[in-house]
Order: sequence, then structure tokens, then C-alpha cells
Amino acid sequence: MLAIFNSAPSYMTVFTVYMFFLPFFFLATIFLAKRRKIKLHFISQSFLLGITLLFILYFEIMIRVYGGFLDFVNSSFVPYSLLLGFLIFHIVLASSSLGGWIYLYISSLKAINKKNKNSFNKTKHKKIGIAIFIAMTLSSITGVFIYIFLFFKF
Ligand code: HEM
Repeated sequence: MLAIFNSAPSYMTVFTVYMFFLPFFFLATIFLAKRRKIKLHFISQSFLLGITLLFILYFEIMIRVYGGFLDFVNSSFVPYSLLLGFLIFHIVLASSSLGGWIYLYISSLKAINKKNKNSFNKTKHKKIGIAIFIAMTLSSITGVFIYIFLFFKF
């Protein structure tokens, strides 16, 4: 089972492990909002978004330096076309959830800083926040599956 870590490049393992834990970190920041600890909710969201963007930057650089999908797909136990379709689905899902996350972060920050108290729409914020949490969790799960599909050996 641990052989999967030996056949994968370490940058892929590092990124996948982070993506595995991301939904749990997300849950923690949402839990803070639920407990009305809004300052901590904001600080933890800022950290989480910042660190996630740094991890993505690291991954995007390493994939260009050391190779990505096409370099590993031939040794996968999953047929190429199936894996490619799954990868495209994962990329679309992950990019739109990241875009939505950045949008919600910036728009919430702007709204909360306005003098008009009604500019922060709590219900809408909560709905979009939960939708982004679900989309990010699905992105993490599909990302972990791609890692398994590429590097797991029977
Ligand atoms: C600048 C960034 C942010 C600020 C200032 C902020 C502020 C708030 C505030 C004031 C509440 C409480 C609303 C209430 O009283 O019901 C809240 C709740 C919530 N926030 Fe944020 N938020 C930010 C970013 C985010 C992001 C990026 C997400 C998710 C992607 C998120 C997810 C949630 C969720 C799910 C709740 C509802 C918790 C609950 O009551 O069940 N927030 N946020």
C-alpha cells in the first residue's frame, strides 16, 4: 500500500496530502463562523486561502519542471481516455471552486467593511460558502483519486 508513495514524485504527494486535509480545515473555519467567532473565521479563511494559493503555485511550478499527467499516464492501471475525462472534470471543478472561493472572500471583505450594515447578506454568504465548501471537497476527493489512478500499483 505504501508503495504508492514511492512511485509518485514527492511534489505530487505533498500536494495531494494537503488537498486531502483541506476540507477538514474548511470545516474548522466554518465551525468558527457558526460559533459567531467572526474575527477568527475571517483570519482562518485568509490563512487557508493564502496557503492554498501557495500550494497551487508550488504544484504548478513543479509540474512544469518535473512533468505531469502525460509523463505518468502510461504506467496507470486506468485506461487513458477514462483518466483524461476524469482529469478534465477535476480541473473544471477545481478551477471553478477556487474562483468562487476567491470571489466570496473578496466580496465578503468588501461588504463587511462598508458602513451600511445591510451590505453583508448573511443568508447569501452562508449559502455560497456551503456550496464552495462542497465543491472544494469534491475537488479534493477527485484529486486524491487521480493520484491513486496514476500511482497505485497492484
Ligand atoms: C473576508 C472573508 C469573510 C468574512 C468577512 C466572512 C464573514 C462571515 C460572517 C460575518 C458570518 C456570520 C453570518 C451570520 O451571522 O450568520 C459568516 C458565516 C459563514 N461563512 Fe464567512 N466570511 C468570509 C469568508 C468566507 C468564505 C471564503 C467562506 C467559504 C468559502 C465562508 C463560509 C461561511 C459559512 C459557511 C458561514 C455560515 C456558518 C453558519 O452559521 O452555519 N466565509 N462569515
